[in-house]
Amino acid sequence: MSEVYTVTVDPLGTEVQCRADQPILDACLRAGVWLPHACTHGTCGTCKAEVTDGEVDFGEASSFALMDFEREEGKALLCCAMPRSDVTIEGDVELEQGITMHPVSDYTGTVVELSDCATDTRRLLLDLDREMAFNPGQYVSLEVPGTGQTRTYSMANVPAEPGRVELHIRRTPGGLATDNWIFKTLEVGDEIRLSGPYGRFFFRPARPEPMLMIAGGTGQAPITSIIRHALAEAEQRITLYAGGRTTEHLYNVALFRELQQRYPDRFHYRPCLSEQRAEGYAAGRVTDVLDAELDTCTGHVAYVCGPPPMVDATLKTLMRKRLFPRDIYREDFFDARDKATGGLRSPLLKR
Ligand SMILES: Cc1cc2nc3c(=O)[nH]c(=O)nc-3n(C[C@H](O)[C@H](O)[C@H](O)COP(=O)(O)OP(=O)(O)OC[C@H]3O[C@@H](n4cnc5c(N)ncnc54)[C@H](O)[C@@H]3O)c2cc1C
Ligand code: FES
Repeated sequence: MSEVYTVTVDPLGTEVQCRADQPILDACLRAGVWLPHACTHGTCGTCKAEVTDGEVDFGEASSFALMDFEREEGKALLCCAMPRSDVTIEGDVELEQGITMHPVSDYTGTVVELSDCATDTRRLLLDLDREMAFNPGQYVSLEVPGTGQTRTYSMANVPAEPGRVELHIRRTPGGLATDNWIFKTLEVGDEIRLSGPYGRFFFRPARPEPMLMIAGGTGQAPITSIIRHALAEAEQRITLYAGGRTTEHLYNVALFRELQQRYPDRFHYRPCLSEQRAEGYAAGRVTDVLDAELDTCTGHVAYVCGPPPMVDATLKTLMRKRLFPRDIYREDFFDARDKATGGLRSPLLKR
């Protein structure tokens, strides 16, 4: 049994119990103490905080996200750092208007559907052993059996479907979770251990501005959740730019066309193909189509999700079109390569 230490989260002064083998962020999120985080794998730097008292093991923090001089200054990535004594941290406690954050917990999911929905892309449906409350856009962390490792996938289901998790998963050649498990041995009926909900890429109901949704590949997963939820529960107008290489790579086209018919005054769908011309699709990458179709993005709120280079290119386009960082919410699908190499970290937005 691992030693347990007390983590004091300033400025709240809240005390959380944390095992010596448990990341401090994990202990806080499970105790309902919300701290900013995005990747939960030591890559993005969003969870960086100052340890003002006590000792931590820095864990598997990327040396790009946490530089040596920052470690010496007493900073740590809370998603990786584990306590070696009682510690005090200076938490950037975020509370946003109209948002309830839900504590992280463990679940068991049973695979009820595993289907190919596009080239190298699978839709995975899990029935949970109990309901999970979450904000649309958040993600879960799956335990990859027999490896001691976890991988994160965004939920495409809506909070009104709390007993079922829908994931859209892209195959990474040679990937531990995808190529070697989800696309290889995983079957309907298998049980998966998972935890959630995580992340700060979620719908902001208090923002009345029209929403620009921009998704690349399986970046459609959280975007699907946000759009379905917002159309049912809110009033904002929504435009979706969703990109894939060809019609074989783009999925959910029928779903979004149906939503466009059902909500003609609120939802506009622009499927974009970067390597094929086809009727009903815009030609080009999402950023090119966005660039060509919008004179300015002023007055909008944008939600961007997908591979880091696509997110980065989109941010540059949005900012050139006069949208400011405070109006842009992003989720980068960082992977192990990004962690090892520093990925493609935008100089425009630090986190
Ligand atoms: C917040 C978040 C949400 C996400 N949501 C989704 C989602 O909804 N859908 C989705 O498809 N993906 C999503 N991802 C990505 C997902 O978590 C995985 O990273 C992805 O599926 C690859 O996992 P893998 O185990 O198959 O590949 P990995 O085994 O992790 O390998 C990934 C790549 O890294 C390379 N690599 C591995 N180790 C190293 C190393 N030490 N040095 C250099 N290169 C290395 C591999 O060769 C490979 O190219 C999300 C990521 C984040 C951070
Ligand atoms: S959330 Fe800790 S580095 Fe990304």
